[in-house]
Amino acid sequence: MSPDSAAIPRRIAILTGGGDCPGLNAVIRAVAKTAMFDYGMDVYGIEDGFRGLIHRNAHQLTSADVSGILTLGGTILGSSNKDNPFDHSMNVNGQKQRLDVSGDCVEYINSMGWDALICIGGDGTQHMANKFHQLGVRVVGIPKTIDNDLEATDLTFGFQTAVDTATEAIDKLHTTAMAHHRVQIVEMMGRYAGWLTLYSGVSGGADVILIPEIEYDLEVVARYCKDRSRHGKRFTIMAVSEGAKPKGGEMTVAKVVSDSPDPVRLGGVGSVLAEQIAELTGLEARATVLGHLQRGGSPCAFDRLLATRFGFAAVEYLAQGQSGVMPALKGADIVPVKLEDAVSHLKLVPPDHHVIRAARALGTCFGDEPEA
Ligand code: F6P
Repeated sequence: MSPDSAAIPRRIAILTGGGDCPGLNAVIRAVAKTAMFDYGMDVYGIEDGFRGLIHRNAHQLTSADVSGILTLGGTILGSSNKDNPFDHSMNVNGQKQRLDVSGDCVEYINSMGWDALICIGGDGTQHMANKFHQLGVRVVGIPKTIDNDLEATDLTFGFQTAVDTATEAIDKLHTTAMAHHRVQIVEMMGRYAGWLTLYSGVSGGADVILIPEIEYDLEVVARYCKDRSRHGKRFTIMAVSEGAKPKGGEMTVAKVVSDSPDPVRLGGVGSVLAEQIAELTGLEARATVLGHLQRGGSPCAFDRLLATRFGFAAVEYLAQGQSGVMPALKGADIVPVKLEDAVSHLKLVPPDHHVIRAARALGTCFGDEPEA
């Protein structure tokens, strides 16, 4: 069925929201080139995610703006993980208040003559995108995040590059851990999901992998390190999610960013574990926090391809008159899924996931009591 040309948007705007990840520019390029060259649309870039929508900062993109950016990390539009138009913190008569300014944003969208919005982001961004869709704005989302925790898509772009970066870090830490006979802990991002730690931990051959979905028992981990050293392996590599938590305990919170829609910032479990393991085993232990390195750099080939497919598909959906959807990877295909399904809950690692079963079979410790 050929798209109804009356339904094809003439003017669209794109924003990148939430924490950045490799591949954002590849998506911006794919969206803008498809929209401009295939459909003759005007394309506007909103600056710094939803902050630009609230503060009315946007500019029209030219083909030159989106040329030569495929391989660049970051985002030419800027991003923010603090601004929520439905719960916006602002000063009213000297008092800090939280207000719903989404109506002003819709007014701005209309005043700019934008027929549709493309929101590139993770869970938080897609929540807001869905709310704008419910307000009657034509919206298509595009799933990104190194955490890979967005439901309804097999993978988000940015994830594979982060896995590659973290795997390379584990490889490098391996050699120094071996040289000094240490327990080397590598703390990774991922928020409440262990995908990044699991995939890079297995790829880097980590001996211990601790993820939020499987609570760890410190005694089990300490025993495993000691057993390795008794059997002549004089080092241990531990890949640990920032959200890993001990049995019956809590995640380690680095700080609370009060004006952020998702205020909790995790971090610090690596150093806590290093001290505890050293005390329990008598082995020397060190922690390395990979932090924002995992979000930086040029996207790998897989993410460039996925981002390009997502960007193209998003414009196609708009041209077909769709709204409230996002392109998702299902197997080898890109298919539209509803935003409300994508944000219904976080996609966590099932404890019986095939990768976990494979790693356990190879002797990897997940911090729990091995089944008899
Ligand atoms: O969601 C992406 C992510 O990098 C998480 O893995 C991490 O917990 C969080 O963002 C860090 O946020 P910030 O950049 O605000 O420190």
